Amino acid sequence: NSQSNQFCEAGIGYGEVGCGISSSTKLLIKGGTVVNAHHQEVADVYVEDGIIVAVKPDLKVSDDVKVIDATGKFVMPGGIDPHTHLAMEFMGTETIDDFFSGQAAALAGGTTMHIDFVIPVNDSLIAGLETYEEKAKKSCMDYGFHMAITKFDDIVSRDMEIIVKEKGINSFKFFLAYKGSLMVNDELLLEGLKRCKSLGALAMVHAENGDAVFEGQKRMIQLGITGPEGHALSRPPVLEGEATARAIRLAGFVNTPLYVVHVMSIDAMEEIAKARKSGTVASNFDGSLFLCALISYLPNLHQLISLTALLYISPSAISHFLKASQNLSFGTLNRVVKCISTARFSLRHIGQRVVGEPVVSGLVLDDSGLWDSDFTTASKYVMSPPIRASGHDKALQGALSNGVLQLVGTDHCVFNSTQKAFGIDDFRKIPNGVNGIEERMHLVWDTMVESGQISITDYVRVTSTECARIFNIYPRKGAIIAGSDADIIILNPNSSFEINARSHHSRTDTNVYEGRRGKGKVEVTIARGRVVWENNELKVVPGSGKYIEMPPFNYLFSGIDKADASYLSSLNAPVKRSKSTT
Ligand code: URP
Ligand code: ZN
Ligand code: ZN
Ligand code: ZN
Repeated sequence: NSQSNQFCEAGIGYGEVGCGISSSTKLLIKGGTVVNAHHQEVADVYVEDGIIVAVKPDLKVSDDVKVIDATGKFVMPGGIDPHTHLAMEFMGTETIDDFFSGQAAALAGGTTMHIDFVIPVNDSLIAGLETYEEKAKKSCMDYGFHMAITKFDDIVSRDMEIIVKEKGINSFKFFLAYKGSLMVNDELLLEGLKRCKSLGALAMVHAENGDAVFEGQKRMIQLGITGPEGHALSRPPVLEGEATARAIRLAGFVNTPLYVVHVMSIDAMEEIAKARKSGTVASNFDGSLFLCALISYLPNLHQLISLTALLYISPSAISHFLKASQNLSFGTLNRVVKCISTARFSLRHIGQRVVGEPVVSGLVLDDSGLWDSDFTTASKYVMSPPIRASGHDKALQGALSNGVLQLVGTDHCVFNSTQKAFGIDDFRKIPNGVNGIEERMHLVWDTMVESGQISITDYVRVTSTECARIFNIYPRKGAIIAGSDADIIILNPNSSFEINARSHHSRTDTNVYEGRRGKGKVEVTIARGRVVWENNELKVVPGSGKYIEMPPFNYLFSGIDKADASYLSSLNAPVKRSKSTT
């Protein structure tokens, strides 16, 4: 195993002894700018036994403490990757990064925790979890699990409860694509959403219309398009937009929060934006009467349009309502106008709780690579939903900076060029997935912070803190404050990074970011108090990573019960009818 040479493995089963890892359990990070999602300041960080003990300027410590100088650098919470697939059996093969190699790569890139997707075994959640517990024994960093749901019956329903209440998993993923394997239909999705809601678990969706993808694939094959470009052509953005909209509406109907994984297109992103701005409750508001009133009182078209935009009503509806308003009496209009301020309040404040997760590949790549004449090059970009045409990437960056999308994952799901070649004659057989677990922190820094699109505190939010909040482990994770786990990175903004398959730590032989350079470099990674990455060297110990239990009812659930109650009380009592006597 040539890969293991890069890592210090002598300590397997022996903890840190003789591993070259500092045996000091005390650590002082001096003089850096400590950045949290809510605040940044120049301060020292003192760590003992894997926990942050103090964050203050000019801390004095004893001689046995290892000191790391961070002057001029940013000291930030280690990254948390909400979306990975390590050692996953998929499309007839298994992802080549396991819980050791994938995590080692993560640590070298400044990510100190990830959440991986447990795939049920023969539709059994418990059997699936046992399989993943076994896979994860070699972990060298902290990890948590999401659970995929591929079937729904009484056993699955019961097991979902066990998974949430006893196993520390607070999210379930539904695949609306992968017809014939992981895909679920709307009936199952609805049952799943209801069950998630009752357990306080977050429902996640892979949003592509699997039936239409199947049709699109047949179409491409009939046209003789069998190469990797056929993958993108067979599942266009409209199919992602449709499934995203459908999942959002069904989650709104059930009134439970929804997390959309790997948002790859403008189409999907705009559905999320729309839902977050005005939810299902707001749609009960009588928009036509409201607009009639506006039109009568605001003859100035510019005023009208800006107000319309402000109120999140589609300007394209205006002409329709212009006609209707002529038939209304002054009295009616007057009454409607009095409602405007209330209506506006509800329109702006009742947004559906939808989380959108872009992944690094969607943020920084476009689909041009899929047309490369070299199969190995083209096939490495094959993932689902596909990497989109240029333009979608910039739009997703914008959505990340303005808050429509909230946190960045990778969907790290790696197959080497031999595995990708299963689909040399048929793109449908190319295992889907790209790398990113090692590159995420650098690429988000370079693309978003160096370009001025987000602040450094926002960087911490989208790479770490928001993930910890959503999966209910904040502030143990995702923060540099006294009492938090000592998962810390030191990033030098004046240094630079370069990405290539030769030097990366993943086991795969290609890299979709091959040749990329940028500003900012993670120089030190500390995983629960252990310096695991320093001087471009990894010091990781298999078995040292811990499973992080994630409790249900995250912040997105707060108020859901109140909204349900007020919805119920808004319904009229059942109408009492007697049989007519004619
Ligand atoms: O292509 C991808 N994304 N592979 C991993 C499975 C998934 O859909 O997340
Ligand atoms: Zn060792
Ligand atoms: Zn997916
Ligand atoms: Zn995935």
